[in-house]
Amino acid sequence: MPLDTSRVLDSELIRKYLPRGRTIEELEQELEPVIKQELKGRIKALLKEKDAVLVAHYYVSADLQELAAETGGFTSDSLDMARFGHEHPASTLAVAGVRFMGETAKILNPEKKVLMPDLEATCSLDLGCPAEDFAAFCDEHPDRTVVVYANTSAEVKARSDWMVTSSIAEKVVAHLHEKGKKILWAPDKYLGDYVQRKTGADLLSWDGACVVHEEFKAQALKDMRIEDPEAGVLVHPESPRGIIEQADFVGSTTQLIQAARDLPHKKFIVATDRGIFHRMRQAAPGKIFIPAPIAGETVDCIACAHCPWMAMNGLQNLTRALETGENEIHVDPQVGRRARIAVERMLEFSRSLRK
Ligand code: 13P
Ligand code: SF4
Repeated sequence: MPLDTSRVLDSELIRKYLPRGRTIEELEQELEPVIKQELKGRIKALLKEKDAVLVAHYYVSADLQELAAETGGFTSDSLDMARFGHEHPASTLAVAGVRFMGETAKILNPEKKVLMPDLEATCSLDLGCPAEDFAAFCDEHPDRTVVVYANTSAEVKARSDWMVTSSIAEKVVAHLHEKGKKILWAPDKYLGDYVQRKTGADLLSWDGACVVHEEFKAQALKDMRIEDPEAGVLVHPESPRGIIEQADFVGSTTQLIQAARDLPHKKFIVATDRGIFHRMRQAAPGKIFIPAPIAGETVDCIACAHCPWMAMNGLQNLTRALETGENEIHVDPQVGRRARIAVERMLEFSRSLRK
């Protein structure tokens, strides 16, 4: 797969945006249960008072995921978070995840208020794909259909023809390939590589990566499987090729949870953010989940199998956002209208698959 390496991922930039010190998630793990209960009670009351619903990702804390379930909200992958927020009648969406998830919610629901616990919660894929550079890349390849991953800014989505998430990327690219389209893909090079190999499409990729998934180590995973040959391997497609090649199942977070439940293995090695273990244990009680290895014996990782930006979501900053209405996501209406075409195209396509 050709890769545009002219704009190399700026790891300094990514480090600059990493949360400093201990994350709110770590700090909240130490809260007394009674304080947590008080905060949860306050959030429940605020959600009602503000006509709001909580939409969370599987990588945020178990407390937030549980709260979403207890209040008629929802925890899921990026595609179903977008769908749920769009279809729910609440006038405010409280999104516990990272910024691109809040922006996607706003793009689809410009009339709704979208709040997030922390607006600084970003994503290395989004950071590694600045809108201006991306526009120049697109201009250099006007013959290609532009397909961008959800993990991008609203401006990047506005420059695209299609937005996709990990659960539907392969199907969308296969569909475009069948129609004879050449693809310009951004920003995740590993997901791009995976989709290219699955579909055979002519796909030119941006050079971006997720700091969490890029850390999984193929040789260490091989060693682990030799030690534990009975264990199944579940892999998110943001992982490098050497990890994906060892998978029993590759898919989005929701698809991985379903596989954990449905595959016959009693034990799984999991190559994605360890926040997902909470839901995997609920979906497949009694099964054992172990994280895929990150840096062999010498742990030298930025993320250590847990997204530092997802960990910026907590009960306390969610309470504050709901109380004050601050941390609202704004998307320039013109940008939003253009981005919406790409997002709607994916939703329409996913509806056609379900018919
Ligand atoms: P999913 O859409 O599979 O939940 O992935 C989102 C993400 O950011 C994974 O790192
Ligand atoms: Fe982005 Fe990776 Fe975090 Fe997902 S896990 S939000 S891709 S940095």
